[in-house]
Amino acid sequence: MADQGGSRAAPRRSRGVVISDDWPGYSLDLFTYPQHYCGDLEYVLIPHGIIVDRTECLAKGIMQDIGDNNIVVLCVLKGGYKFCADLVEHIKTLSRNSERSVSMKVDFVRQQSYHNDQSTQNMQIIGGDDLSKLTGKDIIGTGRTMKALLNSIEKYKPKMIKVASLLVKRTSQPDGYRPDYYGFEIPNLFVVGYALDYNEHFRDLNHICVINDNGKGKYKV
Ligand code: IMP
Ligand code: MG
Repeated sequence: MADQGGSRAAPRRSRGVVISDDWPGYSLDLFTYPQHYCGDLEYVLIPHGIIVDRTECLAKGIMQDIGDNNIVVLCVLKGGYKFCADLVEHIKTLSRNSERSVSMKVDFVRQQSYHNDQSTQNMQIIGGDDLSKLTGKDIIGTGRTMKALLNSIEKYKPKMIKVASLLVKRTSQPDGYRPDYYGFEIPNLFVVGYALDYNEHFRDLNHICVINDNGKGKYKV
């Protein structure tokens, strides 16, 4: 491939990859997935490979923005663990291959706010003993969880806080929260896979999928 040479324009901050409301997704037959979820899913919204490629791109943007700062990555469990782990791996690779080596600390907090597929008001944040400059998160739904988490982090007055979330849902919430980095803007659907769960199930699915009524009924609590 020919190198254009000269200065390349920095990528513009965008809305991420926008998945429209009429996106039909991919048929499950086109991909492999755990057999125990056969009959529980409607379609594949985002295949695993695309998630990983997009995460690499977010890592690149983060590397450009952090300058000479070292970072503390605060992973929001449990749903954020896959995204956070992949993001950290990409940052490590970029850091290894660049002039500037970024030192990273990793910490974890846990929050739970969903009952079945509904967001609830009673949120619990557990853990996290280090200050955060970057938080790695699975999905911003209503944005309620992220706001609560940011309130508790800001008390420690960190030098800089940046939020990276793999997904942002187009909810009708007036207080919709927009993170600094995000992979995909998705319709207001309940999704599972890539560590996102429905009552603790589907975290072991690689793709991000839409659950069907059968799956919802089967794993309802
Ligand atoms: P929010 O408070 O509505 O923004 O919800 C945030 C948290 O709820 C996320 O961190 C997820 O753990 C969970 N959540 C929200 N939407 C979904 C979904 O579609 N599937 C699985 N978990 C979700
Ligand atoms: Mg959950």
